[in-house]
Amino acid sequence: MIRIQNLEKNYRIGNSSITALKNINLEVSNSQFVTLMGPSGSGKSSLLNILASIDKPDNGLVEVFDYNLNNLSQRDLDKYRRSTVGIIFQFFNLLPYLSALENVSLPLYLSGISTNQAHLRASESLEMVGLKDRMQHKPTELSGGEQQRVAIARSIVHNPKLLLADEPTGNLDTDTSHKIMEILLKLRKEKSFTLWIVTHNPEIGRLGDLQIHLKDGKMLDES
Ligand SMILES: Nc1ncnc2c1ncn2[C@@H]1O[C@H](COP(=O)(O)OP(=O)(O)O)[C@@H](O)[C@H]1O
Ligand SMILES: [Mg+2]
Repeated sequence: MIRIQNLEKNYRIGNSSITALKNINLEVSNSQFVTLMGPSGSGKSSLLNILASIDKPDNGLVEVFDYNLNNLSQRDLDKYRRSTVGIIFQFFNLLPYLSALENVSLPLYLSGISTNQAHLRASESLEMVGLKDRMQHKPTELSGGEQQRVAIARSIVHNPKLLLADEPTGNLDTDTSHKIMEILLKLRKEKSFTLWIVTHNPEIGRLGDLQIHLKDGKMLDES
């Protein structure tokens, strides 16, 4: 279960402050599919980054499963990132000098698993996204859709309970976008993680069990 109460997020630049999120209240039960929509600058990435523990709330409560994200110790923060949450971005964020296999293995290397074991799990993960025959390719040797599939494989390699996708198809053509959405929904079915997708595409938006619309950092409605 994810519980958000009176969440507020501000960014300070010099002496001025921008309110990115205000008065956000939500409850999401396990394995739900959430779609998050709204114009550019409405706070979508801010909300996802807080759930990913990349960023911290200024006010309000954010609980994800057993974690209270307001005040995690460094130890719990590491645990949360390594075992609970996965994230995918619009621009893939792969490391250019590493192969697909190494990119996907990276989160496992960081959690101290042996290289052999990491490669085994990474190859299984790449197989799940249909990239068994691209393991040794570097990101520049892959198409945009393939790069995003590597990023998806990386985001699920540690079996997260929560997968966050910030405009995962925003940089891809229509056909490739469909393929990426199919993969995400297939993985969700197989692994039953809670999935959040930020999207500008109303067709994808309508697929959500819970559809959240943000405007100027506030929730418009919930359906
Ligand atoms: N790191 C940051 N520093 C300052 N302002 C930011 C930062 N990140 C986002 N903002 C501002 O917060 C608001 C919400 O941004 P964001 O969450 O990225 O929106 P969206 O993802 O919906 O486009 C915007 O006004 C944006 O300019
Ligand atoms: Mg954004």
